Amino acid sequence: MSYFYVGGDLKVGSISQYASVSEIARNQTTPFYLYDVDDIEMRYRAYEKTLSGLNSRIHYALKANSNHKILSHLASWGAGVDTVSGGEIKKALAAGFPPAKIIFSGVAKTKKEIRFAIENQIKQINVESPAELERIIEIARSLKLKVDVAFRLNPDVNPKTHPYITTGFRENKFGMDESFLPELIKLLTASKDAVQLRGLTMHIGSLLFDLDVFQEALEKTLVVHHQLVKEGFTLDRFDIGGGLGIRYETADATDELAMLEKFGVMVKAVTTKHFGSDSKIEVMTEPGRMIVARSGLLVSEVQYIKRAPAKTFAIVDTGMHHLLRPALYQARHRVVTLREPTSALQTYDVVGPICESSDVLAKDAELPEMKAGDLIGIADSGAYGFSMASAYNSHEFPAEILVEKGQTSHPGRAQ
Ligand code: LLP
Repeated sequence: MSYFYVGGDLKVGSISQYASVSEIARNQTTPFYLYDVDDIEMRYRAYEKTLSGLNSRIHYALKANSNHKILSHLASWGAGVDTVSGGEIKKALAAGFPPAKIIFSGVAKTKKEIRFAIENQIKQINVESPAELERIIEIARSLKLKVDVAFRLNPDVNPKTHPYITTGFRENKFGMDESFLPELIKLLTASKDAVQLRGLTMHIGSLLFDLDVFQEALEKTLVVHHQLVKEGFTLDRFDIGGGLGIRYETADATDELAMLEKFGVMVKAVTTKHFGSDSKIEVMTEPGRMIVARSGLLVSEVQYIKRAPAKTFAIVDTGMHHLLRPALYQARHRVVTLREPTSALQTYDVVGPICESSDVLAKDAELPEMKAGDLIGIADSGAYGFSMASAYNSHEFPAEILVEKGQTSHPGRAQ
């Protein structure tokens, strides 16, 4: 449980330890992101538990939420981290992740970023093309350092999610298929001084619910794994990416947590079948959304109510510049009021200040009678919220506030 009403007032936390969102809002100008650290920890532990029994490690996908305090917590709980830029590696190091737990993904790694990663002796670079591998070899040689790599496979499956967040189709820019293998093997064989292949990695997309498709992708990737083992490579890592979804349409998380359990059962069955039950192969995961999405609430103040003939608009002080998901993916986030609704519900389009017609946070939201000055929260905005925010129209970034065991920490502006 993360956000719920007690005595008509929205609280954040658990039923035994919570804080009032309105009270936090009294000391903080809107808009601001509020994060429930206990919910993040519960989910991190659930993810760990579902894979227990395997030699597994979670590498949290930092792109989902890169708040420094949240990262420090994850580091202190023992997580590793998946990064996609030099900037993300820097954030991970600053938050206390040891280099040996940092992996580096992404299709467009620059020379500078690769150099930085190798100099810092991070755990692994996930390679997306032969040209990138060549670049890594060249830089590692020039530094006289050896670097561990994994090849990102593109298993060509249909992850049944929004087209902007699929990554495992052949038409997507991500990963490589079997046709790249001869070139990759040639490069590896000639560069044993500079790189070592540790395993394969895959990530087929985000907001996934179909575990059969996930399994199909694992099986396809494992065909290539076995091929490489036959070629004489010793692979001791297998990185299965992230991608599990949450049910944005409801506050009830039962369904997604049940999916997480089934995911663990499926991953154990597949890896045991392929690697044997006493395998030492490290099974790596890269979850983002599942860990942090539910923790976040974007709190905003209604500025105006505008009753147009076709629509009633609730115009608020946050928008697509702070939460891009509705505009970019037609994502539907629930809108909650800080006071529990008592009047009959009406239909509003909740819109922001940005000079774009796509700046709609929630279309046809059912809300009680609203007026200027009322506070609302955009639910489940802990993942890909602040991390995708911009300063468009020269608005300020929202603050980020953490609540832990009912106590507010880290008030003030975001770093
Ligand atoms: N690993 C890799 C290589 C990734 O590209 C991603 C996300 C993840 C892990 C984490 O995926 P997750 O567990 O969070 O689904 N902005 C979009 C999501 C884009 C995801 C990009 N890659 C959204 O707001 O829905």
